[in-house]
Amino acid sequence: MSSKKTLFSGVQPSGQLMLGNYLGAIRNWVDLQKKYDSLFCVVDLHAITIKQSPTELQDRTLSVAATYLACGVDPSLATVFVQSQVAAHAELSWILTCFSNMGELSRMTQFKDKSAKQKSIGTGLFTYPVLMAADILLYQTQLVPVGQDQKQHLELARDLAIRMNTQVGDPSDPLFVVPEPFIAPVGAKIMSLADPKAKMSKSDEDANATIFLTDSEDVIIKKLKKAVTDSGTDITYSEDKPGIKNLIDIQVAITGKNSDQIVSEFAGKQYGHLKLATAEIVAACIKPIREKTETFMKDKGALLGILNKGADKANERAQATLQKVKKAVGFVLSLALISLISGGCASVPATPEAQLGPMPTTGPVGSTFSKHGEKFVNCGRDAVTIQTGSTQRIDFRFTILPSGVVAKPRIDGMSSPDPDLHGCLLRALAKVQFPKPKDKKPKEIGYTITIRPE
Ligand code: TRP
Repeated sequence: MSSKKTLFSGVQPSGQLMLGNYLGAIRNWVDLQKKYDSLFCVVDLHAITIKQSPTELQDRTLSVAATYLACGVDPSLATVFVQSQVAAHAELSWILTCFSNMGELSRMTQFKDKSAKQKSIGTGLFTYPVLMAADILLYQTQLVPVGQDQKQHLELARDLAIRMNTQVGDPSDPLFVVPEPFIAPVGAKIMSLADPKAKMSKSDEDANATIFLTDSEDVIIKKLKKAVTDSGTDITYSEDKPGIKNLIDIQVAITGKNSDQIVSEFAGKQYGHLKLATAEIVAACIKPIREKTETFMKDKGALLGILNKGADKANERAQATLQKVKKAVGFVLSLALISLISGGCASVPATPEAQLGPMPTTGPVGSTFSKHGEKFVNCGRDAVTIQTGSTQRIDFRFTILPSGVVAKPRIDGMSSPDPDLHGCLLRALAKVQFPKPKDKKPKEIGYTITIRPE
């Protein structure tokens, strides 16, 4: 286990990423990933709390992931993944829902704001913060970099963690770490260009309100020229000139200068000068991100590969928490065991012949080979070891009848049979279509199956 603290953050693919996402969040991730054990997620389950076009959602999900990478998030340092590819988020969310109450969810300001704008209020909007709590708690997250608008949601995640820890958890081995909000050292709040009193948003209906990380230089200049500014002509940095203040804040965030320096640079100049200068600074900042994002989007195979690896890593960690929680709430353990079989139930290939290739029955005993991210050891005739995340290994033998049916499971070294374990292994194996023995005789196969401890 790494001694680094765990950090989790995510952005919804409810629109293309925009300047505020970069300056306020993703830019910081690039530094944070070096210091913390970081997970950066594209939270597509959250996105469907409002209506989405399926094709657009799919495209935006990939584009958001590509933008993370383009901004410098490094999959060799951080776990980058898509939320819906790790089923544990939805599962834990349900369990947490049953530990939450109507009162606390009704008090969420974001729910009140969002639902005020809808004629028919989706249930997903209401339970959205519980899903966010699941995201965070699954990974035993200590730090969550969030803006002001998400603090209340994080508070709920803390309450739910404490509640489950005390109500069903074992005090000597808590179910969840209680997460802390993490205020990044430099985080910028970028406001809408059309309404500088509102935050810049990727889902704003006004196309000129938001600068997207995919915008070209021309578009950026056009949008900034149209930016709403304030009455008067002097360029000063003050709350009663929110439009001008926003442009100065954008420059501060990108250049690292302070607001006084920028104000003095524009002494005696007009709003138009400030707009144009800001546009140039923004365009130069966005250009490399846009170009790299395009490159990642051109090779979707490679992008999907990165995301798959991220989801596998995330899944393994999420399962450790989920199994503990399932046990604590009283779900039947043998079912939990099925998904604990590494390379077993959760990822048992439908046709091992096709996906894993023929099991090696020749070759030197003890030789290893890797396929599909799993490590196999040849243990002798018809026997292979699946060695993933190994902590406990069970030597398991069974027979494949000429019909292809799996029969006679037995566990080596286990004197009294354990019906739960046998049943669970059989159920896992039932998902695998084994090739029928060619010689039409029952064929004995041996596996060593790795089971992670609860
Ligand atoms: N609700 C967050 C937002 O809209 C996105 C999010 C979902 C998130 N799950 C998370 C952020 C977990 C941090 C941690 O900004």
